[in-house]
Amino acid sequence: MKAVPVSRGVANPAPAGSDLVPDWLCLERLRRGFLDGTAGRQDYWRGMQDLAQYDATFAQRIGWKWDFVLQDLQRLGWTLPPGVLVDWGCGSGIATRAVLDLFGTAGVEEVRFLDRSPLAVRFAAQRLAARFPGTRSGVGWGEGPAVVLVSHVLTELEPSQVDELLAQLATATSVIWVEPGTYEASLALIAIRERLRATFRIVSPCPHGGACGILSPGNERHWCHHFASPPAGVFTDPFWGRFAHFLGIDLRSLPLSYLVLDRRAVPPTSVVTPEIRVLGRPELHKADVRLIACQASCLGELTLTKRAHPELWKAARKDRFPTVLPAAEVPG
Ligand SMILES: C[S@@+](CC[C@H](N)C(=O)[O-])C[C@H]1O[C@@H](n2cnc3c(N)ncnc32)[C@H](O)[C@@H]1O
Repeated sequence: MKAVPVSRGVANPAPAGSDLVPDWLCLERLRRGFLDGTAGRQDYWRGMQDLAQYDATFAQRIGWKWDFVLQDLQRLGWTLPPGVLVDWGCGSGIATRAVLDLFGTAGVEEVRFLDRSPLAVRFAAQRLAARFPGTRSGVGWGEGPAVVLVSHVLTELEPSQVDELLAQLATATSVIWVEPGTYEASLALIAIRERLRATFRIVSPCPHGGACGILSPGNERHWCHHFASPPAGVFTDPFWGRFAHFLGIDLRSLPLSYLVLDRRAVPPTSVVTPEIRVLGRPELHKADVRLIACQASCLGELTLTKRAHPELWKAARKDRFPTVLPAAEVPG
């Protein structure tokens, strides 16, 4: 059976070369390494074929998470800072392609790929050239990148490697960091947020730049995670059906944690409306919907009655609850 991955969105057609025949053993081996925590021990890319398999499958799902984050950034009026883009731990380079698909290549001086695997760097550069011919690419950190992308790499790093990466980030203007939506990944990303928030402005997902509310006593069981949606066609695509079946993956569930930081000041003309960020999925009850709400003043449980908020209750029933709410519309 040919793998024909559904595109990550209108702006993201399936990557070139995605009509490869799935190698389930390879995909299973990669997934096992990601899940059992052994992926960090050694370079697991055995050849360009591994990267092609990954790029057509796991990376597509990661791309849909990036689409979620980037659409939120667009909503917030965030723009890609002009200059060099670094994709740190690039793998097949899906994060870069997702960013350029949405924000375009204008202003991108060069894309620099960085990975402990030279094969991954080569693969990512090839895919970039196929998708965005004419975009310059290079290898390694370079000097003073405008934006650094980090994606699904935290579980593979030793604490000392995280320290080194954070020190390097000090030279960047912006950072977009996307990780799985697990409790552990979220808490690790929150720890990074706390270390970087003195030097960067927090753009998203936090509606404030103060200490993370999850770290407040009583909130230990919560974690900062969100759910992206795969393109609708995925559910009727025979390839993705087999992918889900062979690997035991729930196609509907795309949990992610993320952090977007920026050193640029908020434009003085922008109007900042206080928002509530909804964490995870709200709980639907007969007469109300209950959610974990993050806002400037606190993080905690919020109950919205069906009587006072019929539209929101309906949205929760249809699994379309918004991820942000204007703070003025809900009780404080
Ligand atoms: C799960 S893959 C994610 C790839 C890509 N960022 C994505 O989101 O699809 C993790 C990548 O991090 C790379 N990696 C692991 N440890 C690294 C390190 N210490 N320095 C640089 N890259 C590393 C791996 O080689 C692999 O390509």
